[in-house]
Amino acid sequence: MSSLGPPASYTGAARSLGAASRTGAAALEFRGVTKWYGRGEQAHGAVNDLSFEIPSGAICVLVGPSGCGKTTSLKMVNRLIEPTAGEILLDGVNVLTEDVTALRRRIGYVIQQVGLFPHLTVGRNVAVVPALVGWSKERQRVRADELLSLVGLDPASYWSRYPFQLSGGERQRVGVARALAADPPLMLMDEPFAAVDPIVRERLQDEFLRLQRDLAKTILFVTHDIDEAIKMGDLIAVMEEGGRLAQFGPPDEILAHPASDFVARFVGADRGLKRLSLVTIADLELAPLAALAWAALPTFSPNTKLRDALSVLLAADSRGGVALDEEGQPRGLVTVDAIASALRDDRRDGAGASAAGDARVTATGVSAAAGDAKVTATGVSAAAGDAKVTAEGGDS
Ligand SMILES: Nc1ncnc2c1ncn2[C@@H]1O[C@H](COP(=O)(O)OP(=O)(O)OP(=O)(O)O)[C@@H](O)[C@H]1O
Ligand SMILES: [Mg+2]
Repeated sequence: MSSLGPPASYTGAARSLGAASRTGAAALEFRGVTKWYGRGEQAHGAVNDLSFEIPSGAICVLVGPSGCGKTTSLKMVNRLIEPTAGEILLDGVNVLTEDVTALRRRIGYVIQQVGLFPHLTVGRNVAVVPALVGWSKERQRVRADELLSLVGLDPASYWSRYPFQLSGGERQRVGVARALAADPPLMLMDEPFAAVDPIVRERLQDEFLRLQRDLAKTILFVTHDIDEAIKMGDLIAVMEEGGRLAQFGPPDEILAHPASDFVARFVGADRGLKRLSLVTIADLELAPLAALAWAALPTFSPNTKLRDALSVLLAADSRGGVALDEEGQPRGLVTVDAIASALRDDRRDGAGASAAGDARVTATGVSAAAGDAKVTATGVSAAAGDAKVTAEGGDS
């Protein structure tokens, strides 16, 4: 049975890693990074002994509640804020030893609330860093055109507009294009998609992930939204109040084995369901499909997420669905039970005590999302039984 364990998420990072060597992404390491504000009795820690490593080409998401030190951590990388203690290493070199201007040119920065220059056109905004480093007008123009196209804005109609003439989503895209302009090996993105509605946000996230497959930048991405963290991150650093690192690892590991009550609460009681959105039908072990039985069943393309497949099966009141291959040919039977046991299998890999906790939370998550009291553990296995009947029925 397919496991939902950490290796799948690591593969994501490793894939990017391969591509990274093409584009020159940089590895980033936080080593005991601490930031205190104020003195004496007023002193308070915004970031506390933060240590983790991001391999080049990976997206690491810093996630946590408001005020837990995410922006402060990000700004210490490009030295808008200087740490009180600890080191930040970019490709092994302490950023504090580098020339600030040179350092910032190697780092693309998308700030919280976008921050485009209101008096510059879209094209000039995107070309700000190339202009600073002395590229010719022609080269700036070509690069800005290329980046605007890349983020889905037609240069012919957007180049000469001003930020106030754009929608929120378009402004976000210009912000991303600007951060990419000098082809930096590292990107810092502070809640880059927070200021837009959920539908636009989802589109921007998808576009950005598609873009990243080619760019393979190292990215430190801040959000307070755990769903965004799970979707965007190869690695997630969960931070808690006081600027402490609560857990660091691939999304699936954090969902499957939260390191503390805080992390478990933060990722939510539906973390079992969230894990299902990390895995596709292509990763699921399928039951054999009887030749004639499948005509009336829902069908799934290989890249359908298990969470979506489960929701289709439950909504259609269908006990099974058909996994199709890339050519649209039936490959096997997807059952509610197979989806449930993909989660169960992985639980057995975990330690006894936390595995028991998982079972409880996962079961709660599934029945809550189904909105259907019948979809309990018993309901699920009954459903699998039905699916088998369907398959066998077709055989006779
Ligand atoms: N210049 C400053 N002086 C004193 N305290 C500060 C300063 N800047 C930030 N802080 C404090 O440091 C802590 C971390 O702030 P930070 O902006 O990093 O939080 P955040 O996680 O990005 O929050 P949000 O999700 O709201 O953006 C907060 O408690 C904040 O009040
Ligand atoms: Mg912030």
